[in-house]
Amino acid sequence: MRILFAPLQSYTTGIYRKAHAEIFGGVDAYYAPFLRIENGKPREKDLRDLNALEGNAREIPQIIANSVDEFKILADALIAKGYTEIDFNMGCPFPMQVNRHRGAGILNDKQTVQEIMDEIRKISNTNGTAPTIVKGTAPVKFSVKMRLGQDSPDEAFALLPILNEAPLSQITLHPRLGKQQYKGAIDFKSFEKFYEECRHPLVYNGDITSVSQICEMERRYPKLAGVMIGRGLLARPSLAAEYKELRDINCVAPLNSDTHQDFLGKILQMHQVIFDHACKTYQGDSQILSHVQSFWEYLEPSIPKKIFKKIKKAGKLSEYQEAITAMKELS
Ligand SMILES: Cc1cc2nc3c(=O)[nH]c(=O)nc-3n(C[C@H](O)[C@H](O)[C@H](O)COP(=O)(O)O)c2cc1C
Repeated sequence: MRILFAPLQSYTTGIYRKAHAEIFGGVDAYYAPFLRIENGKPREKDLRDLNALEGNAREIPQIIANSVDEFKILADALIAKGYTEIDFNMGCPFPMQVNRHRGAGILNDKQTVQEIMDEIRKISNTNGTAPTIVKGTAPVKFSVKMRLGQDSPDEAFALLPILNEAPLSQITLHPRLGKQQYKGAIDFKSFEKFYEECRHPLVYNGDITSVSQICEMERRYPKLAGVMIGRGLLARPSLAAEYKELRDINCVAPLNSDTHQDFLGKILQMHQVIFDHACKTYQGDSQILSHVQSFWEYLEPSIPKKIFKKIKKAGKLSEYQEAITAMKELS
């Protein structure tokens, strides 16, 4: 089964994706956090963070839009950059987006989704040669990443006939509601109904943290096209590679075992790439720290408590580096 790295704004940055692909690997495609409109144009900062991957790992950009007009501007910008695969976000639960009718906030609007799907058909049929789009050679594929609804799973089922008719390459479903954000029970019953009724390749997303869970999804849902993993991979960047090797090291290995040493070594390698990039790109301790501290946030269970606290508390680069040196001594 394909393993896809979920996009997480501020965490799976371009440099994170590049370092992960080089050091841990095992991921079939990295989804970039959403590109959005700012002052009528695609947000420059988001565009600059794309094109991070070289070699075989694939990077798929994502857009978030509240209308076909916004959708067109963003899709055009990505096609002009040479992308031939674009994901459309219909799941972001952040009130800033939902209240502006984007992400999960678009799920109850059949009319707008229909208009966007019509635009996808137009772009796909013309292989990226529509008048507004820079002439491309390969056909442009579109996928969707969505939730069951903002307030009720009825929203996804009302949209499904529209989505089934659209020329989508894949749908990723996170079976929660927008109002749940990232917590609360996953609605497997609705997921199963969607799985049965969806005519496109379906990818499952939500709360996967171990190889055995990936295998269980594969067993329960044999038609599944893949799983998309976010926080589970941030917490255990080796997860995709472990699945690929079919080594089930489900629980965190004891702190002094060889496997854990190897894991820590790779974490430090990855950190070095991200740290060097932050020092080159940003200025001043607080800017650099805010970019590198987030690397450790989901890794809390994998590193000693004392060092984690030191990293989190560091207000100066020198304090931060002391904590990293202590980590290096462990590996
Ligand atoms: C801080 C944060 C930022 C996120 N940013 C995005 C994003 O830009 N685009 C997107 O489709 N999903 C985004 N997500 C959702 C994740 O891609 C994913 O769907 C969610 O975390 C559930 O999967 P997981 O349990 O494997 O982490 C974000 C989630 C978090 C917690």
